[in-house]
Amino acid sequence: MKGVTYWSYIKTEELLSLQGGVDGDEAKVSDDEALFIVVHQVYELWFKLVLRELVSARDLFRRDPVPDHLMASAVRSLRRSSTILRQAVSHFDVMETLTTRDFLAFRDRLVPASGFQSAQLREIEIVLGLDDRERVPLGREGSYLEALKDDGGRPSPSLARVERRLADRPSLREVLEDWLFRTPIDGSHATDPGDDAAVERFLSRFLGAHAGEADARIARVDVQAMTADDVERLEQRYAAEVEKARAFLFAEEQPDPQLRRRERRVRAALVFLESYRELPLLSWPREVIDAVIELEQAFVMFRQRHARMVERVIGRRTGTGGSAGVDYLDQTAQRYRVFRNLWAVRTLLVREAALPPLDHPELYGFVAGALARRHGRMRFGSTGSPRRAASNVIVALSSPDSTSSNRRGATRPGASSSVSLATSFFSCSSFGAAVMRAPPPTRAASSE
Ligand code: HEM
Repeated sequence: MKGVTYWSYIKTEELLSLQGGVDGDEAKVSDDEALFIVVHQVYELWFKLVLRELVSARDLFRRDPVPDHLMASAVRSLRRSSTILRQAVSHFDVMETLTTRDFLAFRDRLVPASGFQSAQLREIEIVLGLDDRERVPLGREGSYLEALKDDGGRPSPSLARVERRLADRPSLREVLEDWLFRTPIDGSHATDPGDDAAVERFLSRFLGAHAGEADARIARVDVQAMTADDVERLEQRYAAEVEKARAFLFAEEQPDPQLRRRERRVRAALVFLESYRELPLLSWPREVIDAVIELEQAFVMFRQRHARMVERVIGRRTGTGGSAGVDYLDQTAQRYRVFRNLWAVRTLLVREAALPPLDHPELYGFVAGALARRHGRMRFGSTGSPRRAASNVIVALSSPDSTSSNRRGATRPGASSSVSLATSFFSCSSFGAAVMRAPPPTRAASSE
């Protein structure tokens, strides 16, 4: 068998023969244009990797339940995508070595080609879950799909690629929201008969804490030297914030009762995960949320940095693709948000010390029991809010092949230790669904 070489594996010769530009002849390509081509090609390669990682993460989260041991893999994929995007953003520095005049020397030959026709960027948006209704119009007839057609409206490989991706549902946003919807909130499952009331109780207590924080802030402001009008304006602003938080958490904007319930539960799950992240079984799910935020932030920064680079190189003229150029790009950076709930929740989170205690923090601790004790495993102590220790938080003994039915018995504090909980719980996608379906223990102290 022929031995592998660097060039045969990396395909160096093939790669280096791809910079021929419009005529396919590198001799006719200036240094500036070679730079322009190479930087775009490098981006497309990064996009390829981002897509692979996003699809992997999406596929993990489309499972029900999400296997616990794979949750860290999903976080790794999301974080790798963010790192790539951040790295890619720095390549715009290289592009900016192209002056306006340098670019104008070959720009006209590129019309009507445009980065707008980057199929992989569209694929990334689709895998993430960007809603087509939110797209900023390019400023010419037809959708972004029309722009992917070849001369004379013929289909192109890029169009076929995007169409395949459109058919490949669900998106990362959809699977994440399904998973959030299934999250047990303070011990209550979406499928439990009393779940609506439990979620409402959780949200009302949280909103009480949120309003309390606003009051405390106003009280602090009162003592400062402000005019009565200023104080009143500030009070109104805080009151509006409190009202907005309530309307958001109860998903009042959603007219359909079923969808409102779903949205409310997703938002409540986010508040729950973010607020009580010290509970052992919430720590990985909360990492997932953080990794998604990091990813979307990196993507927004990609858009913003691209727009600033474009402004520097071509000013505010019309783009080769026919859009309003920088104005169009700025609008996409401003408007394209996929994980809106994740961002919105950040506006209303409160300090840890202000959080209301949970009814069932013990259900979110790693469960073990006799076996753990026999093997001298350590209790790692309180994991709830600082004012209230989570009971029964013990190092988990989990067997990877344990079934959901045998986990069920482990929900009660002190239940048999042979039950695997740690690994099953947070995966459940309603992580720990199986576990938590057992009747809750005697009600612990509540804020009521
Ligand atoms: C001198 C360099 C560049 C200029 C002047 C430029 C300019 C523009 C303009 C004006 C648009 C808006 C669409 C249009 O009317 O054409 C656009 C879109 C786009 N460009 Fe660039 N670009 C440059 C480099 C790059 C690079 C290096 C990439 C790397 C991938 C890139 C990727 C994109 C993408 C993906 C879009 C579509 C954005 C969207 O629709 O959301 N561009 N570019």
